[in-house]
Amino acid sequence: MTQSLKDRSVVVTGGSKGIGKGIARVFALSGAKVVIIARHIDQAEAAAAEIGHGTFGVAGDVTSLASVEAAFAAAAARNGGIDVLCANAGIFPQARLEDMSSEQWDEVVDTNLKGTFHAVKAAVPYLKTSGQGRIVLTSSITGPITGFPGWSHYGATKAGQLGFMRTACIELAKYGITVNAVMPGNIITEGLVGLGEAYQKTMAASIPLKRLGTVEDIGHAALYFASKEAGYVTGQTIIVDGGQILPESLEALG
Ligand SMILES: NC(=O)c1ccc[n+]([C@@H]2O[C@H](COP(=O)([O-])OP(=O)(O)OC[C@H]3O[C@@H](n4cnc5c(N)ncnc54)[C@H](OP(=O)(O)O)[C@@H]3O)[C@@H](O)[C@H]2O)c1
Repeated sequence: MTQSLKDRSVVVTGGSKGIGKGIARVFALSGAKVVIIARHIDQAEAAAAEIGHGTFGVAGDVTSLASVEAAFAAAAARNGGIDVLCANAGIFPQARLEDMSSEQWDEVVDTNLKGTFHAVKAAVPYLKTSGQGRIVLTSSITGPITGFPGWSHYGATKAGQLGFMRTACIELAKYGITVNAVMPGNIITEGLVGLGEAYQKTMAASIPLKRLGTVEDIGHAALYFASKEAGYVTGQTIIVDGGQILPESLEALG
């Protein structure tokens, strides 16, 4: 395991639950100084206390640039700057497009896509002075690769993050900042558990490795992109899905 995250200052948006909490834990165990950002400060603080290793919770809402800027200023003041941004906050309410309201569309786009822009924009002033600035986005296989009924808005945001990344990485390269994205498959989180046991069982059956992913599976991929060793990798994606996107049909699963 890389040692290069030791004492790096890391900010994880949406780090109070699910994948973000897994990312925060993996980074904290690698010696990084981690700040978790989420709207519910009580949950951010509880997650930070559970992870330990100096992890700290700060309130912030990625739909507001001013809120993200204030949260990142607090994180930078605490840990002496920001070296790594994990832009992970996201929501995935389901609505079939024939029933979807304009407001439902906006809520998902404002959080997942505009929220990614806000987080990256607010982090850049700090990452520029890092000398090893890293941005890791949490995208998804849903949107860039696959589709799922009820998630047309969600899929659009997850594909949109990758379009955003491909120009952002070019613009930020002159500062030595890299921008990459992890594309999780179906990962066991509080949010996914809420979709029901039947959903989890069907999903596990459709995955060649026959299990849903863990939040640590995603954390380790994020850790690679954030490492010193990944310094020549930018604008790239890694799919972490147990092989889920590969079978052509149910027969292919043997
Ligand atoms: N779970 C999966 O299988 C899966 C698969 C592919 C991709 N992903 C992606 O992984 C990311 C995390 O998903 P998850 O399953 O871990 O979700 P989750 O368990 O529901 O956690 C979502 C996190 O985001 C925070 N959040 C939501 N809206 C926010 C906002 N406006 N500002 C700041 N923080 C906000 C939540 O805290 P607050 O509510 O307190 O703000 C929470 O910490 C998302 O980007 C999602 O698209 C998940």
